[in-house]
Amino acid sequence: MAILDQLDVLACPHCGGPLSLSSDGRAVRCANGHSFDLARQGYLNLLGSKQPRNADTGPMIAARDHFLSAGHYQPIAERLSALAAGSGSGADSRLLDTGTGTGYYLATMLDRITGARGVGLDVSVAAARHAARAHPRLAAVVADVWQPLPLRDGQFDVVSSVFAPRNAEEFHRVLKPTGRLLVVSPEPEHLAELREPLGLLSIEEAKSDRLEAALSGRFEADEAVRVQFESALDGATLSDLVRMGPNAFHLDERAIAQGLRGLPVPFTVTVAVTISVWAPRRP
Ligand SMILES: C[S@@+](CC[C@H](N)C(=O)[O-])C[C@H]1O[C@@H](n2cnc3c(N)ncnc32)[C@H](O)[C@@H]1O
Ligand SMILES: [Zn+2]
Repeated sequence: MAILDQLDVLACPHCGGPLSLSSDGRAVRCANGHSFDLARQGYLNLLGSKQPRNADTGPMIAARDHFLSAGHYQPIAERLSALAAGSGSGADSRLLDTGTGTGYYLATMLDRITGARGVGLDVSVAAARHAARAHPRLAAVVADVWQPLPLRDGQFDVVSSVFAPRNAEEFHRVLKPTGRLLVVSPEPEHLAELREPLGLLSIEEAKSDRLEAALSGRFEADEAVRVQFESALDGATLSDLVRMGPNAFHLDERAIAQGLRGLPVPFTVTVAVTISVWAPRRP
């Protein structure tokens, strides 16, 4: 189990102490007796409470898996991996991907950086279950980005957040001083063609300013790379694309199905994101 190779970077969510494997090999625990069962599927739940309502559901994860495995966002994953390889320290690198979903981006980074190990963290149990199978060097952990992360200080060369929430304070704490934070965020043009016909959530123009405001107390902007391309998608793929994202929480099934029926296929969408690289400020 990949999780057992990465206990050294994990911390007890209750007392912050180091974790080790229990004598029967079925749980991990700290010196204060806090204990967490290892799931049969290979992930470790360090959440300590019920998962919040905005955690991705099983059907969202399945749709995301179909879509990503078909390679539709591969140019993003490749560019992110190149930036991660440039930020890390090679085979000893430790990566953390927060809001990892299916683990697709972290698995791609681990493929491109031989020997690196990665923690994939998500508040969704369905996500962690999937991510645990995504790569042999990926340890899947259930935890909430908005709580103190169950991770030790200064252990990671790279922290990434792809279309997921960001906690500047905690990302800064777990990064090595020489490490880098990589953030993938959508541009206003991202999937713009689908917004009106399907009533999807829009991406505000001011999002990059908000990112800067949220991170700049703890991080300095290093570089930013825009990835933009067009993709012609068939009906099943469009359906996965809508069902895998936050729109699944906002639209009912009937509205999605009706909107999709009205679209010509193949339907061409613009994919437009920025990958920004951030260096931690000295404390
Ligand atoms: C839009 S999805 C992106 C998933 C993945 N990074 C990708 O791009 O394929 C957002 C992910 O963040 C997770 N998430 C939402 N709130 C979270 C939180 N507070 N802590 C950790 N993960 C969270 C969701 O469960 C979901 O898997
Ligand atoms: Zn403890």
